[in-house]
Amino acid sequence: MYKKIKETAEWIQQRMPNAPTIAIVLGSGLGELAKRIERLKTFPYKEIPNFPVSTVEGHAGELIFGKLGGVDVLAMEGRFHYYEGWTMQQVTFPVRVMYELGIKTLFVSNAAGGTNPDFQIGDLMIITDHINYMPENPLHGPNIPTGPRFPDMGEAYSKKLIAKADAIAAKHGIKVQHGVYLATQGPTYETPAEYRMFARWGADAVGMSTVPEVIVAHHCGIECFGMSIITDLGGMENPMKITHEEVLRAAEAAQPFMATIIEEMIKV
Ligand code: HPA
Repeated sequence: MYKKIKETAEWIQQRMPNAPTIAIVLGSGLGELAKRIERLKTFPYKEIPNFPVSTVEGHAGELIFGKLGGVDVLAMEGRFHYYEGWTMQQVTFPVRVMYELGIKTLFVSNAAGGTNPDFQIGDLMIITDHINYMPENPLHGPNIPTGPRFPDMGEAYSKKLIAKADAIAAKHGIKVQHGVYLATQGPTYETPAEYRMFARWGADAVGMSTVPEVIVAHHCGIECFGMSIITDLGGMENPMKITHEEVLRAAEAAQPFMATIIEEMIKV
């Protein structure tokens, strides 16, 4: 695996037009930020050696090198989900490659179901912590020497970046929630009983991504910042039927606000 990571990083290095230290993983329906990136070079995943190719609707599957607010960035449009059948090593392969390319800060976004009764559809939630409820940890197996065998997870999401996001949100009058993101393996959305259980466990939102990428990035010493768009609410009095289309629609409405926050965080 390590050899493949190095091989892919070298292939990209020989072709990349700039050397960003900031990377962004764009989740379900969060293409808005991608549109704001001034593209210098785009690599479809299928052209990158050893890269998995994403299959989910709404995920373009490109690695974008460009500038956002004048700052060099690397963006992943389309990520790899465990439910697609990828192994955890494949899901987190791009993050490993990012580390080799010199990435120091990672921004991740996703769509998530709210389990916190105070949340509303369309809310933005800054991820303050996570619960890994996926069946496997991406660091399972021989330790890749980018970090310790038993990594500390006390501050997986940078407090400094959270404070910065709060200040930017306040300046623009954008309402943000804070909360714990719980990741399931999917692809089922939760039953009402599961939503209630996750809420009791301390989760504010639940989704099917992000946690593997953040674990690996944190292991590599990459500073992480994550945001969720709350696209549906589960386990409440009036259970609603969730569809992928509804999730994408709710994400669509909220994503310009998230894009503004992330763009400004990168700029300052
Ligand atoms: N559960 C899991 N993943 C999700 C949800 C949800 O309610 N909404 C968007 N992604």
